[in-house]
Amino acid sequence: MLMLSTDCFLCYHPSLMATVVRSFAKINIGLRIGPLREDGYHELRTIYQTLSFHDLIKVEFGRGAGIEISCDNPQVPTGESNTCWRVAERVLKALKVRGKVHITIEKRMPVQGGLGGASSNAVAAMLALEKALKMRLAAGQRLRIASEVGSDLPLFLIGGTVLGIGRGEQVYALEDLPTLDCVTAAPDVGVSTPAAFAEWDRKLTGQVASDRIRTFSQSVYEWLNGSRFPSTGVPAKGRGRAETLLLDLVRAGIVNDFESVVFPKYHPIREVKRVLERSGADYASLSGSGSTVYGLFAKRSKALEAVRQLGQSGVPAQAWKTLTRDQYWKELFPRTG
Ligand code: C5P
Repeated sequence: MLMLSTDCFLCYHPSLMATVVRSFAKINIGLRIGPLREDGYHELRTIYQTLSFHDLIKVEFGRGAGIEISCDNPQVPTGESNTCWRVAERVLKALKVRGKVHITIEKRMPVQGGLGGASSNAVAAMLALEKALKMRLAAGQRLRIASEVGSDLPLFLIGGTVLGIGRGEQVYALEDLPTLDCVTAAPDVGVSTPAAFAEWDRKLTGQVASDRIRTFSQSVYEWLNGSRFPSTGVPAKGRGRAETLLLDLVRAGIVNDFESVVFPKYHPIREVKRVLERSGADYASLSGSGSTVYGLFAKRSKALEAVRQLGQSGVPAQAWKTLTRDQYWKELFPRTG
């Protein structure tokens, strides 16, 4: 039951209904790093794509005060630095609500893995908290809170295939790519994103960085349009749209700039990309700053073969599907009962 307190904050009587939300992973299909900006961030261009791989976020709201986080993975901080904590605090403030929030994170994605786990968890917590409170933030409020907490959060307010610019927080829904099979594999090393950016700065001058970022939109344009309107006007014999799209992706030279600073430092990560390519991935790349490497496949059988080969070489790997925007929103709230 809702009660209005004297200072206009809403207070709740206990309603310990748990709301569970799936928190999906993303991969980066190409990532160009531009010059270091005055605010300490780098200008980016990337395409985000959501995957069926997910954690589970449970939010309980009741009488009292404070935000508590619990997680089955000890690597995840449970205090005020947790992205879920930071989002929950802002949501309560924006909705003018007081009460106790308990967030449980069931972790399946690798921590510091380049799959946007912490960012996705935070957006899932925001949506679950809204649902638990039976209140909604305006779209603009959601976006403001998400981009305040981190550059990779806003993409999870869109889902599917998303263009990211600025520091990655300015997001635009792209026409969804067809559903593809995606294998993810993460060697047991955590890569620090700020450290990877710092390494990039040591390697490149700002001038080169801005040149490279200019070529990104051209490559993406050629990739997406090349696949839809093949130059011959005739789809390649025996190839479906997914396979044509993946071959064009390689041809367009869409790459993740982090590979050039992460691979020389972490050889096992580079090796995972080689195994994926050898086992038939149509396109393989580091996601974000790693450590996850993914492979996209037009054929399921090849994806499963890659999982087997990676497993044999001692790197746990799993096969997922890419999620379109519709699938993302449909699957976000698990059906109950
Ligand atoms: O935005 P987020 O908190 O995820 O960023 C973590 C760190 O990564 C930033 O503090 C910054 O050092 C680096 N970063 C960057 N340029 C970006 C995004 C992140 O330099 N576009």
